[in-house]
Amino acid sequence: MKSSLETLLEMHDQMHLIAFWNQLNASRQATLEAEIRAIDFERIARLYQQRDALSDLGAMAKRSRPPAAFRLNGQGNRFSADEARQRGIEALRDGRVGVILVAGGQGTRLGFNHPKGMFPIGPVSGKSLFQFHIEKMLAAARRYGKPVPLYLMTSPVTHDETVDFLARHDRFGLPERDLRVFCQGTMPAVDATTGKLLLDGPEHLALSPDGHGGTLAALVRGGSLADAQSRGIEQLFYFQVDNPLVDIAGPEFLGYHLLAGSEASSQVIAKRDPLERVGNVVDIDGRLHVIEYSDLPDDVARRRAADGSLEIWAGSIAVHVFDVAFLDRMAHRADALPFHIAKKKVPYVDASGKRIEPDAPNAIKFERFIFDLLPSAENAIVVEVDPARAFAPLKNAPGAATDTPDWVRAQLVAEHARWLRAAGVEVREGVPVEISPLLALDPEELAGRLLRGTRVLEPTYFTP
Ligand code: UD1
Repeated sequence: MKSSLETLLEMHDQMHLIAFWNQLNASRQATLEAEIRAIDFERIARLYQQRDALSDLGAMAKRSRPPAAFRLNGQGNRFSADEARQRGIEALRDGRVGVILVAGGQGTRLGFNHPKGMFPIGPVSGKSLFQFHIEKMLAAARRYGKPVPLYLMTSPVTHDETVDFLARHDRFGLPERDLRVFCQGTMPAVDATTGKLLLDGPEHLALSPDGHGGTLAALVRGGSLADAQSRGIEQLFYFQVDNPLVDIAGPEFLGYHLLAGSEASSQVIAKRDPLERVGNVVDIDGRLHVIEYSDLPDDVARRRAADGSLEIWAGSIAVHVFDVAFLDRMAHRADALPFHIAKKKVPYVDASGKRIEPDAPNAIKFERFIFDLLPSAENAIVVEVDPARAFAPLKNAPGAATDTPDWVRAQLVAEHARWLRAAGVEVREGVPVEISPLLALDPEELAGRLLRGTRVLEPTYFTP
């Protein structure tokens, strides 16, 4: 008699998934069965059928217009920076702000075989990205007198190592009650020509993280959203693990978001090149959207305004603030976030049991992006920041032109040298300097903590 598993797979034309069933012992059979039963086959079939429509954002992208934004030059600002800072500080002092850090990506491009957050990025200290981020949060909590809880999202690829790393370092001082690590979901990869799921091994499906849009469901599933609500957190500052210059829960950005009554706010930089490899924050039919550089037609990307500046100028640095009630509302809508498709090389086990390492894209992966929440947000705003002060993402292995470890370190050194010089310190040109967030979070704070007449002639790490 057919098992219910066979019936299920037959119904969806996926019988190949149990081709090696009889070679597996009971526990491996159980592993495979659990993975198969977790799949929503109807949804995968639907997504596969819609693959062309899902990947064609061109028509929509053509209607892109520049977004209304709070510009660095003051243009478009409805509130002063001081007013915003004050409002942000109030929220922090009331303990109404938490932080989401997404760290589930695989870091393939960087060529680092561990969670990216473990990468030693400190130019002098050698501290990891995780330590940088957590120290900023500790410093903010200390400054405003209220805890700033961290909701850290991992994926099955990064979870265990991240948890171990943080435990080994006592969470870099973050109290246990202020850290929740939760794991995002996965999606199966399917064969690009047949839509059939791929096997990664005899008892494993080829699964990969479901994109940072998976944050929404994972926040609810793991109880983190409920935790935030029960602590009275009303705003969640969201950022990516790869950017050590990010101003975590900075009061000015929070303040603009609160003063505007925004449900989702985004930081952007003015793009330096029309084809820069960042998401583009645009206005489409009166709503904010992020269109990835790969989805923006070149002619649209190259459009210029009358004064010669780029029309589609706003590059997303993937820093947002989300209103918690908005996230809660969206998390209960099945269609809150669309899927994007990506054609990728995915190794798999073929019908004869041989492992194939494809040399061209053979599979489709499905991912959701958190920024697809923007069109649904009321009063969403865009705030421009200076990349030299706020954006140094670690993406590429050594050898690339930018976003490499050395490039990121140089950005950090340049920014910290600026802080020191602004405080009247003489810093010898070319000498690496680094300031611990625990000593100072900004130039003003640093100025009050240095001895008069400090000179920096050799690599120096400023720490309390
Ligand atoms: C991303 C943005 C891009 C933005 C740029 C800024 C997307 C699709 N694009 O590009 O608009 O301009 O950052 O640096 O996001 N992550 C997860 N789970 C996943 C996938 C990713 O947690 O399933 C996390 C990663 O750990 C990382 C972040 O999301 O922290 C960004 O992912 P990545 O794939 O590196 O995006 P980029 O292509 O760099």
